[in-house]
Amino acid sequence: MKTNLIRHLANGRSRLRASAVLLVAAFCSPAVLAQAAYPNKPITLVVPFSAGGPTDLVARTLGAAMSRTLNQPVLIENKTGAGGTIAANYTAKSKPDGYTFLIHHNGMATAPALYRKLSYNPLTDFDYVSQVIDVPMTLIGRKDLPAKDFNELRAYLKANGDKVTLAHAGLGAVSHLCGMLFRQATGANLTTVPYQGTGPAMNALLGGQVDLLCDQTTSTTQYIKAGSVKLYGVTTTARIKSMPDAPTLSEQGLKGSEIVVWHGIYAPKGTPKEAIDKFGAALRSALVDPAVAKRLDELGAVVVTESKQTPVGLQTWLAQETTRYAPVIKAAGQFAD
Ligand code: MLT
Repeated sequence: MKTNLIRHLANGRSRLRASAVLLVAAFCSPAVLAQAAYPNKPITLVVPFSAGGPTDLVARTLGAAMSRTLNQPVLIENKTGAGGTIAANYTAKSKPDGYTFLIHHNGMATAPALYRKLSYNPLTDFDYVSQVIDVPMTLIGRKDLPAKDFNELRAYLKANGDKVTLAHAGLGAVSHLCGMLFRQATGANLTTVPYQGTGPAMNALLGGQVDLLCDQTTSTTQYIKAGSVKLYGVTTTARIKSMPDAPTLSEQGLKGSEIVVWHGIYAPKGTPKEAIDKFGAALRSALVDPAVAKRLDELGAVVVTESKQTPVGLQTWLAQETTRYAPVIKAAGQFAD
């Protein structure tokens, strides 16, 4: 009787131990751990252009604030080339595990018309996180360019034709798109010089190796304010808050060159919803972080409305913009391949 009781108790204890082991194993299985603890390793935010340019600046500013919310570093990876399409293709083909995201601009909408052999589809190969900010562009020239203002620039372009050079960041880059609109609106026969981003293009302008560049205020504001480049005009329809004295190109008589750069964050198709939601929430926190908001404001960037800071906000906008750009690019007869 006593022996039976001891055996029974011993069996009970080992059953208890076995259950405990099973319970711990279940909660520590890789699937559960990954789900429960996302993010549990650094997250990569792919930037389609060079370090030191405007997209890179936005990514690094937001990434630093988002790292604090996510408790994991947001690492910036610059994957340059082919007007941003190399980075978009890389992201589309990356593992959809919530550890790779892409920040990109209007180039996501122009690529299908510019690249006839695009190896990804911006409208079907991604999950959408959020729109981010809108940024005006500025047409600037090297400091010692003889033309003092836009009127003089027009005359200078007429007199010098294709001797005048315009830097840009490749077909699909907004600096290229802006240059294309400018050439169409003025009829100027400029020679274009491509770089891997407007970071290096700006260096070339500062070094006097090229004459003109159309780039975002997030990059150009500091040089315009320091007087190290000449400002010919802003590409918005109305003057901007961060540089109220700067005339727009349209108020100086140049119609048809208005452009605003919008940014969105994407993930490879199939990324878990939890990751999209957490990355999106960290982005929204970063956008209202007082230091981030102040910096973006000083650089002329405007945070998009809350309804655009959503997956559907970005997806809808991208679809509209893709439809809007296609006939414009086709009419211009511009192809990258
Ligand atoms: C950059 O980040 O270098 C620019 O956004 C490139 C461009 O002009 O599109």
